[in-house]
Order: sequence, then structure tokens, then C-alpha cells
Amino acid sequence: MSAAADHAIAEALPDSMPLISVHGVSKTYATRRGGKVLAIGEVNLELAQQEFVSLIGPSGCGKSTLLHVASGLLKPTTGQVLVRGEDRPIRAEEFGMVFQDAVLFPWLTIRQNVEMPAQVLRIPKSVYRSRSAELLELVGLGNFGDAYPRELSGGMQQRAAIARSLIHDPELLLMDEPFGAVDAITREALNIELQRIRTVARKSVLFVTHSIAEAVFLSDRVVVMSARPSQIRAIIDIDLPAERGPEMIESPEFDSIVRKIHRELGRHVH
Ligand SMILES: Nc1ncnc2c1ncn2[C@@H]1O[C@H](COP(=O)(O)OP(=O)(O)OP(=O)(O)O)[C@@H](O)[C@H]1O
Ligand SMILES: [Mg+2]
Repeated sequence: MSAAADHAIAEALPDSMPLISVHGVSKTYATRRGGKVLAIGEVNLELAQQEFVSLIGPSGCGKSTLLHVASGLLKPTTGQVLVRGEDRPIRAEEFGMVFQDAVLFPWLTIRQNVEMPAQVLRIPKSVYRSRSAELLELVGLGNFGDAYPRELSGGMQQRAAIARSLIHDPELLLMDEPFGAVDAITREALNIELQRIRTVARKSVLFVTHSIAEAVFLSDRVVVMSARPSQIRAIIDIDLPAERGPEMIESPEFDSIVRKIHRELGRHVH
């Protein structure tokens, strides 16, 4: 093989390497009464670069736990999480996280909350100030930068948390039911926006949702998890065109994938 071909392969390799590999991960929580809860069984999952993967499964099956383990915020009981094939935790600048409950600092304004990760990462103010303005606009909070979290509804706070997860332009987004507290119309708009951000800014996303339609609309793959101790029961490839608009939700192809996932979920309720 020529040196040029060798070089081409070496260059191609990093892209084919999964961004995140979850290998044999299980998590047992110690309860306050001295008991143990096996939250997730042995899970293996890979997230490719620029891939959108949704996790769906019954309440309490360990979706949030898996997301926290992937972020390095929680240590797994067994197994490991690799970042680009390396056994190391993911770095703060590499990912943004939206928690199931928007966790905003009550003593900071919405703009200050959104800018917080950029400050921690020492990004120049000139850069993050214009980005925070854009992001607040994007999530429909353009007029609320100077407000405090207590002055906003739950859904608005959640949208601020979404803006905050994007402020440092991370490669990976970990999103735990980000639209759970948002009304249906705003949720649809945010879905379309997330789809756009993701294709334009080429992000990888691990996304937890209870909405099958939302998972199908956004994802390349949907991971169906069983009840606790959870395991992956099915991984469904979403063979829909990459460009997805609201009209796609009405299509028979969309509907048949939704029904397929519904059946998978129903089968594993107990
Ligand atoms: N800190 C903890 N201590 C003890 N048990 C915990 C802890 N956190 C979670 N669990 C348990 O682990 C299991 C998985 O919880 P987790 O929050 O990951 O589920 P989930 O799939 O995100 O649920 P939901 O859809 O309701 O958000 C649950 O049975 C829960 O009671
Ligand atoms: Mg959860």
C-alpha cells in the first residue's frame, strides 16, 4: 500500500471511531436504608460522531442513569465508557448537558445562567456575549435575558437550560427529556430547531424522551430499554431521509416506525 493510501486511512480513522462507547456498563445504587438497587443491567451502546440516538423506555428504567454515566458525572459499577476509543472521561468543553429538571442558579439572571459554562471554560466574553444573545433568541427568550429564573415558567427555564447547553458549542449534547415541560407547539418548534442545529453544527446527541414520535422525528437510531434492571431490548434504525420537516410526521413511513417502537415498548413493560 502506498504511503499516500496509508495516510488517507489514518486520516479517515478518527471519524469512524465512535464518539462514545458504553461497554458492559451497569449501575447499582446504594439506598439510604442499606439496600441496593440495580438500575441498569449490562448495557453496550455506541454513539457515532454526528449521530442522534434516542433512549426510550418505562419510567425508572435507568435512562437518566445511563446519561449521567455517559457524561462521567456518575461512575458505573461495572464496565467503562470510552471517548473516541480512549479510556478517559469526557471533558467539560466537549459536551453540553440538559438535565431532566432545569437546574438554574436562582441568584443569576437568565443570561448569566446561559453564559456560565462559557465563563467556567474561560471563553472570551466578546465571543460568548453574542452567542448568548443568539441562543436566547433561538429558544424564544430574547426578552428574558435580564430576568431571574423564578420569574420564568418551568418550560421557559427548561429552554434557558437548552441555550446554556449550547453556549460553548460542544460536540456532544446529552439531553434528558429536554422538552418534557414545554407546551406542544413550542415543543414542535424546538424539535425542528434541534434538528437544524444538529445538521448545521454537526453535533452528536444522546437524547432521552418519553415521546415515540419525537424520538422517530429526531433520531438516526432509537434504543428501546426494558424495565429495571434495564437492558437494551431493541435498537431501531430510523430509515427516513436526513432532511425532516413537519410534513414527515404525517407520512405512512413515519407512522409505521412509530407503531413498531410502540409494539417493542409494550412487549417489555414488565
Ligand atoms: N441516587 C439514587 N439512589 C438510589 N436509587 C436511585 C438513585 N437514582 C436513581 N435511582 C433508582 O434507579 C432507577 C433508575 O432511575 P433513573 O432516574 O435512571 O430512571 P429513568 O429511566 O430516568 O426514569 P424517568 O423516565 O422517570 O426519568 C430507579 O429505580 C431509581 O429509583
Ligand atoms: Mg430520568
